[in-house]
Amino acid sequence: MFFKKKKITASAERNIPTHIAIIMDGNGRWAKKRSMPRTAGHAAGSKKFKEIARYCNKIGVKYLTVYAFSTENWRRPKEEVDAIMNIFRDYLQDSANFKSENIMLKFIGDRSGMPQDIAELMAQAEYDSKDATGLKVYMAINYGGRDELVHAVRDIVKEGISPEEITEDTISSHIYTKDYPDPELIIRPSGEYRLSNFLIWQSAYSEFWFSNVLWPDFSPEDLDRAIDDFNLRNRRFGGV
Ligand code: IPE
Ligand code: IPE
Ligand code: MG
Repeated sequence: MFFKKKKITASAERNIPTHIAIIMDGNGRWAKKRSMPRTAGHAAGSKKFKEIARYCNKIGVKYLTVYAFSTENWRRPKEEVDAIMNIFRDYLQDSANFKSENIMLKFIGDRSGMPQDIAELMAQAEYDSKDATGLKVYMAINYGGRDELVHAVRDIVKEGISPEEITEDTISSHIYTKDYPDPELIIRPSGEYRLSNFLIWQSAYSEFWFSNVLWPDFSPEDLDRAIDDFNLRNRRFGGV
């Protein structure tokens, strides 16, 4: 028996995943290596996000979900959390953000836990980009996969759906990502090999790609490598 291995002959022939998700990790270590404050790493990470989102738009990715702040990240020192919130604020106030680039921006996560002014800026950014037809970026802020499922279960109960009626589709249609497909490819840089509570329901059959590169150093070439590796994977979904 020979294994059939898909061969990539030309990059134009590769299958671009419809939905790529990225855990943007390693900002703190990137800064530490440069004897800079962790905050500087977060600022560099924010710039990198813009670069990679633009690249995804260019190569025809349809959905990009990025993990920017988890429900557990509040455990960090107040100064760091405040600095991260200020970076979000600056980012959201930057009117040049993706405007005229045809990129849609939406947020997933529990907004009720965010500072009020940031929640308003998030809503404004969503409104401003709602008609874009290019890449759809979903930024996970105050997001936790378990928290997402808790909210979904609460909503299902509130709607009075009976136990017999509940299917996998019921769950999928009550989570933050209800409007778009599950990620085919999940990328985590920074040398950590875990999900850290990211898309735990949606990742049931995702392909994972890890790299030691720290997020602020992540390049479009790294993304290409991940996509090339993805093209060599044999996705069976439980079949043969
Ligand atoms: C990811 O980088 C950004 C957030 C979690 C907000 P980290 O801040 O976790 O960077 P490391 O993992 O400490 O290097
Ligand atoms: C995951 O990274 C969250 C984000 C990148 C936003 P963490 O740095 O918080 O994950 P752990 O603590 O190493 O698992
Ligand atoms: Mg980290």
